[in-house]
Amino acid sequence: MGLTYARSFLQFNLVSREHLLLVAKNETHRKQLKKLNLGKTVSKIDKRLREYGIIILSVKPQDFPSITEPLKKAIAPHHVVLSVMAGVTIETIQKSLNHKIVIRAMPNTPAQLGMGVTAFTASKDVNIHQVSIIENLLSTTGRTIFLEKENLLDAVTALSGSGPAYFFYVVKCMIEAGVKMGLEESVASMLVKQTMLGSFHLMNQSPYSIEELIQAVASRGGTTEAAFKVLEENHFEPTLIKAIEVARDRATELSHLFNHSSDK
Ligand SMILES: NC(=O)c1ccc[n+]([C@@H]2O[C@H](COP(=O)([O-])OP(=O)(O)OC[C@H]3O[C@@H](n4cnc5c(N)ncnc54)[C@H](OP(=O)(O)O)[C@@H]3O)[C@@H](O)[C@H]2O)c1
Repeated sequence: MGLTYARSFLQFNLVSREHLLLVAKNETHRKQLKKLNLGKTVSKIDKRLREYGIIILSVKPQDFPSITEPLKKAIAPHHVVLSVMAGVTIETIQKSLNHKIVIRAMPNTPAQLGMGVTAFTASKDVNIHQVSIIENLLSTTGRTIFLEKENLLDAVTALSGSGPAYFFYVVKCMIEAGVKMGLEESVASMLVKQTMLGSFHLMNQSPYSIEELIQAVASRGGTTEAAFKVLEENHFEPTLIKAIEVARDRATELSHLFNHSSDK
């Protein structure tokens, strides 16, 4: 995600290379980053951070405790902290860094193509000017939506954060069905991917509701209706809804885990 942000900010000319500092722990990784020529690369978090205005926390949540000590020493009052770490609350970040100005965002992987969606929320200590700067930066990776309630970020994590994986899973199952029915994998793959793309645009441009679009394909007594009968008999809809709710619950559970351990 960190790399995606660096690339997107540069692509939209919101930040120039001289104003980007990329921190990579691993030396091989730092050398790879340096070759990409996105900005200055360093291997340690230190006082050099003071020359910059925004700190983006894009490490895995379980790695957050490993960066809190150096960050605490490097952070200055002018810094705006933007975290994309799943499950680590604003309060935990504030306490761990002894710093109030924190924004928390939940992006997703289509951000790499500028087609992501990011929900974000801010601590009450962040002013409107700082929120709008962060919103402009996040918007380089796709759409953004501000949420008043931080706890809804767990639902966002389950819905749009994990969402690309659900989509790829359905695509994979459909391709497997095509192959099982005798189609070449490349043919099945082309049919399914183009169907997904076309259906997405139809859904977005049609005046009909999603329910009506389903009805338009699933005519009475026809093939699609036969498929839906099996999905219903096997409780597909409640199972999918349950799966997403369980993902939300897991996000909440992980958040308790990280927030308790880093509060200690
Ligand atoms: N991937 C998603 O779909 C997604 C969606 C929403 C939010 N997020 C959140 O985004 C964050 C990053 O996820 P990701 O998928 O981008 O993970 P990732 O590819 O593993 O990136 C994490 C980066 O953090 C670096 N790092 C770890 N410890 C460090 C330290 N002490 N100092 C400096 N750098 C350090 C790692 O460097 P090395 O490679 O050198 O170890 C790695 O480059 C996570 O918190 C995740 O919850 C991810």
